[in-house]
Amino acid sequence: MFEGFVYVRACLYPEGVVLPAGDAAVSVWDRGFVFGDGVYEVVRAYGGRWFRMREHLRRLRRSLEETRIGFDEVDVVEKAAGALQRVQELEEADGLLYVQITRGAAPRSHAFPDPPAEPTVLVALTAVPDFSEEVEKGVAVVTREDFRWHRCDIKTIALQGNVLALQEAKEAGAKECLFVRDGAATEGSHSNFFGVKDGVLRTHPADRRILAGITRECVLELAREAGVSAEEAAIGREELAGLEEAFLTATSFEVVPVVQMDGRPIGDGKPGPVTRRLQEAFRECVRRETGGA
Ligand code: PDD
Repeated sequence: MFEGFVYVRACLYPEGVVLPAGDAAVSVWDRGFVFGDGVYEVVRAYGGRWFRMREHLRRLRRSLEETRIGFDEVDVVEKAAGALQRVQELEEADGLLYVQITRGAAPRSHAFPDPPAEPTVLVALTAVPDFSEEVEKGVAVVTREDFRWHRCDIKTIALQGNVLALQEAKEAGAKECLFVRDGAATEGSHSNFFGVKDGVLRTHPADRRILAGITRECVLELAREAGVSAEEAAIGREELAGLEEAFLTATSFEVVPVVQMDGRPIGDGKPGPVTRRLQEAFRECVRRETGGA
């Protein structure tokens, strides 16, 4: 259960240490544990090289700013990532980096600790789950009302809404839940959502209703490069059944076709040509930028 090593900077290790995950400890009064008062990132390595690390760190800085967690040493993440690669002998391996920064440990009180606590930093490097079947065959999704808070642009660790929605989807035999807010599809519980309608690729604008995914941004760039017309425009609930194609994007599983929604096929029930083209373009982009994939 506690395989591998982690980097932790917390009360017990103010300087930051790399140690076996099973030996690491943080305070039970850490605000991440008590309030979900923290932010996170997930970054993927291909052949040991980080894909779009700069963009992930920029988003991490923004999440910290928006949540007013005073931590200006985000560069520690890259150092910790390198140390974890070395100690786990994963310098040339694929992997997923999990980075979490909380407002630190303090007696329980909703207001920020005064004086501020030292933020708690956790970095872990784990294997990438095998998503090849999903990538190849596509997945089913179910739609659910988006009952999360109104700042989905912040990559907060407080993910109970996402967790409950994904569990419901799983129990309904689907791989992902597609949230719908005010009559428009927003995003998945842990992914962004794209649809093709009348030959035009569409995804929800990057406002407060969705997380501005790094993979989403990359796919939009690639679509433009490939001459696929793409719009950042919400897809209405009533348009979902008539989509020609749909797919999900996330750091962990890249581009996964959606072939079924609420029990009905999307298009002909198979991954469509635009999706296939963008999957290939994404792979090519990863190869170009990291030399891996
Ligand atoms: N999830 N939207 C939500 C709610 C997400 O949790 C994620 C990513 C995305 C896609 O963002 P990106 O392309 O930057 O990974 C969109 C990560 C992978 C996770 O929670 O594990």
